[in-house]
Amino acid sequence: MSVRAAVFASGSGTNLQALLDHEAMSQDYRIRLVVSDRAGAGALDRARTAERRAEVVEVIDGSGEDVAEKTLGLLEEEGIRAIFLAGYLRLVPTSVVEAFRRRILNIHPALLPSFGGKGMYGLRVHQEVLRAGSKVTGVTIHYVDEDYDTGTIFAQWPVPVHPQDTPKSLAARVLRVEHILYPLAADHLCRAVEEGREPPRFAPPGEQFHLTDEAPDEEISRQIRRAFQGGR
Ligand code: GRF
Repeated sequence: MSVRAAVFASGSGTNLQALLDHEAMSQDYRIRLVVSDRAGAGALDRARTAERRAEVVEVIDGSGEDVAEKTLGLLEEEGIRAIFLAGYLRLVPTSVVEAFRRRILNIHPALLPSFGGKGMYGLRVHQEVLRAGSKVTGVTIHYVDEDYDTGTIFAQWPVPVHPQDTPKSLAARVLRVEHILYPLAADHLCRAVEEGREPPRFAPPGEQFHLTDEAPDEEISRQIRRAFQGGR
């Protein structure tokens, strides 16, 4: 049985697309609902093209309770059991976090706890990584709690920074790994949700990150799958 999942997105939705594309190869989740706070979000077009339910839940100051109620209503209607944030720029309402504790993931384009928090999104993250002179950045997937980027880390994958990088070139290298890591993390979480247990711990990749540049997607994917199996 597949776990019914929702994706929340504010932007173009390339991570949503990666999750949708992966479905054909996965039994673990099915995306039934895409929610955006912006009517113009590209993610909504991707959802409609894939014939999924696409809904706008606008977030304006003072609308907190309405947003929570509307969001919970949609999740309930679709029988949703897991939520993936993919470029969603709002805080998830507390009542939704509470109802889906340890069943909501977010993806962040750096190695948290560094380079995260409110306002740290898009190219800004990569600018700060370059400004700090980091030699390694990466992708973090974490559980969502009541604040920005603070939930327990679920999986991380490193990506090298090159001396000639610009924020854009770095963003592209990181995004490639996001698109491989997120669907595998979604499988991992949903398998555990379906079986009513905690997902096994992710084993970090050690020194293998340089492969990120040279290796084909399949090789990175193989290494990530192994990490999800505890490094075996
Ligand atoms: C990604 O870089 C993700 O890590 C961050 O927001 C961006 C969303 O990109 N949370 P997209 O809309 O999935 O293309």
